Amino acid sequence: MHIVLTIRQIRSAVAAQRKRGKRIGLVPTMGALHQGHMSLIRLAKRKSDFVVVSIFLNPAQFGPKEDLSKYPRDLKGDTAKCRRAGADLVFAPSVSGIYPQGFCTNVTVEGLTEGLCAASRPGHFRGVATVVCKLFNMVQPDVAVFGQKDAQQAAVIKRMVSDLNLPVEIVVAPIVRERDGLAMSSRNAYLTPAERAQAPALRHALQLAKRLVKKGRRSAEAIKREMAKMLDIEAPLGVVEYVEIVDNENLKPVRRIDGKALVALAVKFPSARLIDNTVLQRLMPVPTWA
Ligand code: PAJ
Repeated sequence: MHIVLTIRQIRSAVAAQRKRGKRIGLVPTMGALHQGHMSLIRLAKRKSDFVVVSIFLNPAQFGPKEDLSKYPRDLKGDTAKCRRAGADLVFAPSVSGIYPQGFCTNVTVEGLTEGLCAASRPGHFRGVATVVCKLFNMVQPDVAVFGQKDAQQAAVIKRMVSDLNLPVEIVVAPIVRERDGLAMSSRNAYLTPAERAQAPALRHALQLAKRLVKKGRRSAEAIKREMAKMLDIEAPLGVVEYVEIVDNENLKPVRRIDGKALVALAVKFPSARLIDNTVLQRLMPVPTWA
């Protein structure tokens, strides 16, 4: 497996594969790869013939007070993980390659980027949409794989692809978790042992929401209240940034759980901000005459 660093190299490597009739898959990442990323690569391998993994720590999606400078970097280790997961090529461009002098064009997906994570991370999704749009133009994949872990990001990318008529299929892969239920994240490495011990509370709160819906509770407000209560008890080191129940597609808050909804939350521990989500599904009663 090769690693290429420039746009010229990635274009010619992909063009050679396409000429051979290969279907191109792309998995965009920021590095510090874990099993979650590797599951995306394996899925991309099933959906395409030639899988490119991009590793680019994108400064445009980090706020001035965020963790860009301390974000873990390990290109050598990441490349080995890509190889093990079955990637065919790693694309690791430089910041100046992606954002040359004079760069001033951005992609803004409106509407979907107001609530949830966007509220505390202004400009974040603009940075994500812009870099992903650029990666799509550089690699020109037939299919690109993203994780449900970042549900709002996946919704933003799907909207951008549809609105800008980008010729790429978007596939969203399920969340990969640690044994105790904590969603895998490159940022979990920041947690102190005490914070790490409390971190599964995010998952517990999501499971509580599922149980409540199964029991017939419909009020989003009441479910959110129960979840926040549980987080206060199980994760006293964390501050709940949001607990939201939103429409699965347009991400607008819902008042009642009818059909499918997304429950998402963010908890800020002193060492790391964690997010998680799950889909709530109201099971329709089977009619007696069925
Ligand atoms: P990064 O955080 O490196 O994540 C890369 C991809 O891995 C994203 O699609 C994310 O949703 C997915 N992922 C992360 N943790 C996961 C888990 N536990 N299970 C399943 N998938 C998981 O997301 C980004 O990078 C960036 O915003 C990017 C899209 C690369 C643009 O810069």
